[in-house]
Amino acid sequence: NHNHNHNHHFRHADSTASPPSSAVAKISHLKAVVLGDAPASEEDDVVLPSHEFSRQALVPSQQKYLEMYKASIENPAGFWSGIASSEFYWKQRWGDQVYSENLDVRRGNIKIEWFKGGITNVCYNCLDRNIDAGLADKIALYWESNEPGFDATLTYSQLLQRVCQLANYLKSVGVRKGDAVVVYLPMLMELPITMLACTRIGAVHSVVFAGFSSESLAQRIVDCKPKVVITCNAVKRGPKTIFLKDIVDAALIDSANKGISVDVCLTYENQLALKREKTKWKEGRDIWWEDVVPKYPTSCDVEWVDAEDPHFLLYTSGSTGKPKGVLHTTGGYMVYTATTFKYAFDYKDSDVYWCTADCGWITGHSYVTYGPMLNGATILLYEGAPNYPDPGRCWDIVDKYKVTIFYTAPTLVRSLMRDGDEYVTRYSRKSLRVLGSVGEPINPSAWRWFFNVVGGSRCPISDTWWQTETGGFMITPLPGAWPQKPGSATFPFFGVQPVIVDEKGVELDGECSGYLCVKSSWPGAFRTLYGDHERYETTYFKPFPGYYFTGDGCSRDKDGYHWLTGRVDDVINVSGHRIGTAEVESALVSHPQCAEAAVVGVEHQVKGQGIYAFVTPVEGISYSEELRKSLILTVRTQIGAFAAPDKIHWAPALPKTRSGKIMRRILRKIAARQLDELGDTSTLADPGVVDQLIKLADT
Ligand code: PRX
Repeated sequence: NHNHNHNHHFRHADSTASPPSSAVAKISHLKAVVLGDAPASEEDDVVLPSHEFSRQALVPSQQKYLEMYKASIENPAGFWSGIASSEFYWKQRWGDQVYSENLDVRRGNIKIEWFKGGITNVCYNCLDRNIDAGLADKIALYWESNEPGFDATLTYSQLLQRVCQLANYLKSVGVRKGDAVVVYLPMLMELPITMLACTRIGAVHSVVFAGFSSESLAQRIVDCKPKVVITCNAVKRGPKTIFLKDIVDAALIDSANKGISVDVCLTYENQLALKREKTKWKEGRDIWWEDVVPKYPTSCDVEWVDAEDPHFLLYTSGSTGKPKGVLHTTGGYMVYTATTFKYAFDYKDSDVYWCTADCGWITGHSYVTYGPMLNGATILLYEGAPNYPDPGRCWDIVDKYKVTIFYTAPTLVRSLMRDGDEYVTRYSRKSLRVLGSVGEPINPSAWRWFFNVVGGSRCPISDTWWQTETGGFMITPLPGAWPQKPGSATFPFFGVQPVIVDEKGVELDGECSGYLCVKSSWPGAFRTLYGDHERYETTYFKPFPGYYFTGDGCSRDKDGYHWLTGRVDDVINVSGHRIGTAEVESALVSHPQCAEAAVVGVEHQVKGQGIYAFVTPVEGISYSEELRKSLILTVRTQIGAFAAPDKIHWAPALPKTRSGKIMRRILRKIAARQLDELGDTSTLADPGVVDQLIKLADT
């Protein structure tokens, strides 16, 4: 039943003769500044690409974008198979059907497949194919340590050798196609090396951001049952040393208690942070990377896999407590991340590309590792903190490596903006060509600072909207084609059909605002939640039948530009990190002195959103600074430091309806101190609760 679009070649033939009108910008009435001419002031509505920029761009005009977009929507099979066959290596071509999809729960199970039957390998396409094309001696990775002065490089052929050695080692300890490998590493070269080594042998990596606590790591280990865990002994981040191996040790004890024991913990000795003599060790299980991996051969046969075989798992937060294992497969993800990278950053072979994201998040998968590497790019990895030893570090790195494309998150832009322009302007930054933003909406003032001060008003900004689930960019400017509006992610990427629906799921036209959904699949879409296809269907496809529901709110202006307005579910976005309010609540209530907790997001100057927790202690326990600290510590140890609440608000009771449902709407208003906007409180079981909470607001 998932093959209902068997005639996909003709499906859109008459129904969508042209792209939705939302994809056409009419901007002649707007006040514009041209790239490179003058700073973008608050009066300027749009920034136009300059002729010089457009002339050299892959997509040099709106018209060209529209042509390509139209082709991609009218004939997705033709559009994507053209790219897949001309730009990638396939051991065997896919079958007759380029893709099949069912995104409509009313028609049966949700199912998405792209290039099924095609046989390929993503690592081969990242490395061997590029080497064969002449890139053997091109720098693949530059690595810059947390400590200024320490760095390293790997060419494409050196990288391939390292990847093969690890791949051979993994095979020697029994890792086979389809097996999971959990990776808990900081931003060392060994992190992308590990991802690629797994991919080479068809193993499924599950990278856990090395800021997650041992309990979160254990939860992920228990869920995906890896053969091997790969980590390092410690890492320095800014002035601090973080003992990662200790966290892994605790997680392995925890997961063994839950019935999942891991036989091999391969540990990289990160000598700049900690010597091996000082590392806690479990003989028999723990193995030093440096002792074994270099002994293996520097070539390793590729495991050829089906386009729909699993590529990796990445856990992300949802609106219930349990993290979701987002599963991406091979062929579609490969084609999609490479293509989006190329167009959204207008990639050139001579670029030096730096994305500040950690490989522990999706951005580090798609746009530190796979997308750029599939394009044969030179990629910079930075191990440390962006403001260490001072807030000029990023621009020092940009000048040192002559970075041309710089991709980061609004939270970093805002925090550097606070530190003052002089940390930026003391560096040249003249190598920069394109800037990028991801993770949360970028507010227009941060956009202008990024554009004017960092980019010297010369560099377009690609504000890329996407998600762990989407695999790659969904709504993004193409820098040579689109006039940019500060704060808008602009228009859909090729093949993507975003729609804005009202609460009944009716598509809205023209200028509107509502829930952001997507109709019809794109190659990079996730295929399921690991071990829980039902949750996949319920979370993403049941809310608005017939569509993929993103969880985001969005408005479209009269010129057709998209403006993301943030999550509409119980997920908050703190410094671009996705955190489920339910996860923080369940950590808080696990504290023996916490009876009840409700968590909401609140606007935060730098982080975008902060975590605001209302907490009711158990009977007989009174509020204290000590309890506050110990509650925060509980969240840090159960989830990770990045999820620590910014504010604990003591709550003798929480506002509930008569049926016992917590009224978060009211809590959000109290957290934001919008006390005159509390709305109707008469449906509360006890309206007096609200006054109590307001009185306790600043204690
Ligand atoms: O709310 C949107 C926000 O980040 C969410 C996805 O988070 P995650 O899966 O962790 O992936 C982050 C990196 C892709 C989205 O639902 N978001 C991401 N990029 C943007 C954004 N919101 C506005 N503008 C963006 N450019």
